[in-house]
Amino acid sequence: MPEHVAIIMDGNGRWAKKRFLPRFVGHQKGLNSVKRLVAHCASVGVKALTLFAFSTENWRRPQDEVNKLMGLFLKALQKEVSKLNENNVRLLIIGDRSGFSEELQTHIHLAESLTEKNTGLVLTIAANYGGRWDIVQAVQQWQLAHPDSSVAEMTESDISDFISLSELPEVDLLIRTGGEQRVSNFLIWQMAYAEFYFTDELWPEFNESSFDKAVSSFAHRERRFGKTSEQVAQ
Ligand code: IPE
Ligand code: IPE
Ligand code: MG
Repeated sequence: MPEHVAIIMDGNGRWAKKRFLPRFVGHQKGLNSVKRLVAHCASVGVKALTLFAFSTENWRRPQDEVNKLMGLFLKALQKEVSKLNENNVRLLIIGDRSGFSEELQTHIHLAESLTEKNTGLVLTIAANYGGRWDIVQAVQQWQLAHPDSSVAEMTESDISDFISLSELPEVDLLIRTGGEQRVSNFLIWQMAYAEFYFTDELWPEFNESSFDKAVSSFAHRERRFGKTSEQVAQ
């Protein structure tokens, strides 16, 4: 079982389009998949689940779609967080939250503090998140913490200390739904050695058995981390 699974939840718009529905209905359906997956991951013993909900590039979408996505995010925080808390889930939000409304920022803060002490699944939502933004903010935080040091002294482990999700195990498995085979500026630092799994299923169709299939593909891979197969077998 992978300890840390990250998912690029893609294909909501196409799911809706196929049914002659507005794209937003696809996003609403996508939220259902999230709820099911969170419960499933907690029950099969995944330690951390990280979901890409909104990228730094998604602001380029039509204003109406952006507004509706922000509304859905707020509603989900208001409606779902107490249930997550009852289920001992710890909720984290990563990304540049200064881009969000005051109200959304307040609810993000409330959700994180409410679930802070929970010891079950760590659920991270990446919102206004970009992997490049993350690397830059890590360097900036490091410099703030070490005002007398020069970036020339910086090591990989310094970045790992300040990058988002530093307190979690590294990403073991990345799943992308919706058929595209790209990273779209997700966790580029944290996925340096992740196994990738792509499926044509659209996110609103993705369910428990789709997840189990991804995990079983993961279980059959040999993770060599630069070594030879013989070394790994030792
Ligand atoms: C992913 O689904 C959700 C977000 C990016 C918010 P899309 O909205 O990208 O769906 P497609 O790719 O257009 O089908
Ligand atoms: C990636 O999906 C971002 C999220 C799933 C939130 P996109 O649909 O925005 O990715 P691109 O632009 O097609 O690569
Ligand atoms: Mg997409």
